Amino acid sequence: PPSERVRSSVIRVEKYLQPFQLSPETLQEVSARLRKDLLRGLGKHSHHKAPVKMLPTFVRATPDGTEKGDFLALDLGGTNFRVLHVRVEEEAQKVLKMDSQICAIPQEMMLGTGEQLFDHIATCLGDFLESHNLKGQTLPLGFTFSFPCEQLEIDKSILIRWTKGFNCSGVEGKDVVQLLKEAIHRRGDYHIGSVAMVNDTVGTMMSCGYKDQSCEIGMIIGTGTNACYMEEIKNVKRIEGEDGRMCINTEWGGFGDDGCLDDILTEFDVEVDKTSINPGVHIFEKMISGMYLGEIVRLVLVKMTKDKLLFKGQISEALGTCGLFETKFISEIEEPDSGLENAKKILTELGLDWSLVDASVVRLVCDTISSRSAYLCAAALATLVNRIRNNRKLGHLKTTVGVDGTVYRKHPTSKLQKAVRLLAPQCDITFLVSEDGSGKGAAMVTAVAQRLKKSCSTMCTKASE
Ligand code: BGC
Repeated sequence: PPSERVRSSVIRVEKYLQPFQLSPETLQEVSARLRKDLLRGLGKHSHHKAPVKMLPTFVRATPDGTEKGDFLALDLGGTNFRVLHVRVEEEAQKVLKMDSQICAIPQEMMLGTGEQLFDHIATCLGDFLESHNLKGQTLPLGFTFSFPCEQLEIDKSILIRWTKGFNCSGVEGKDVVQLLKEAIHRRGDYHIGSVAMVNDTVGTMMSCGYKDQSCEIGMIIGTGTNACYMEEIKNVKRIEGEDGRMCINTEWGGFGDDGCLDDILTEFDVEVDKTSINPGVHIFEKMISGMYLGEIVRLVLVKMTKDKLLFKGQISEALGTCGLFETKFISEIEEPDSGLENAKKILTELGLDWSLVDASVVRLVCDTISSRSAYLCAAALATLVNRIRNNRKLGHLKTTVGVDGTVYRKHPTSKLQKAVRLLAPQCDITFLVSEDGSGKGAAMVTAVAQRLKKSCSTMCTKASE
């Protein structure tokens, strides 16, 4: 009977999938290693070589609900580039997106020169201002730039390195705000006000923070993965000052870049890293995020087929081609109700001669790889909430995590949430999916920066009076 056949295949298949299955003890170990790496990243002398960069963001406060005004926002870092006009309304405690426009960035541009990229950004912004009659105004601008940057000030931010699909020449080591301003200057037909640079995790935290003021963590599981959280300034040894908190962009995607996760990497992870545009960089991210999950599944399916476990041993051209098994197929195949039907459709589209057993095995592979992604994220998130709880010497921490990214939105989140509860039992976490965090959050950061500047100048004037 088919169920017998399914069962015997499943047993053989399990051998392949076992290395992807991480026990609670392993996840605890991963969390313990990350805990140490967070300290290395925060340390005055250790941060230079730390794989988890723990970058200060100069965001010292989450919203208090009194922010207001009109802002422009740029969002670069995922699959698209966007320009937005955002209004923050104090009375309604709302961040409104007035208008927005998506500009595609062709792949050649992602791998071209920095000048081309920033000219393109300046053109998209110019077109947006023109078509929305905003050219005459000088609005403050929040720039969500979702790559690791050494932020020197809120408007001075040096790109450490490109990640995900980008690798433009002449930008690493440079101030990205300056490059943007230069590109706008080259056009000379419009002006922008003060600029605030923001990582997408920070934007996500801030946009959720307007609604829920206990939101002190921002997490992205999308094309890439990362998180930020509010750290005690006295623990950020590379920054002067003792009082208050600052948002730290962990850049946890780089966890494992020093080899500390080698024991849990599978041969497929090693292969994905090797064939990526940035080998050796962002090892943790490559096990978790949308840019890579589909490719991991594809490599597993190819090997199983070569071993005659699938598709009568026949690899189609599409299955044999790097990048053609898309991450979105995984979530379609995982669907509880229509997953099997979706699997059949996708396998047909990929030119494969499949049986019912094959389709079930493919579902199992997808489920295993997306679950590992969720569990690893859970381990990392648990490390952060446990750290915040310890920082504040609390027996119990209740906190909110602002979340965004297609992988989080499209995949079942119950595994991630359950695993975090297991790994951080003294923390009670609310997950708040951010609505357009990268866009609205950037405006929010700009608004908070303005509020602080105003209150500081009032305080300073008062002090001198
Ligand atoms: C980048 C982070 C970003 C994350 C999510 C990573 O590749 O290094 O800065 O937050 O992707 O977009």
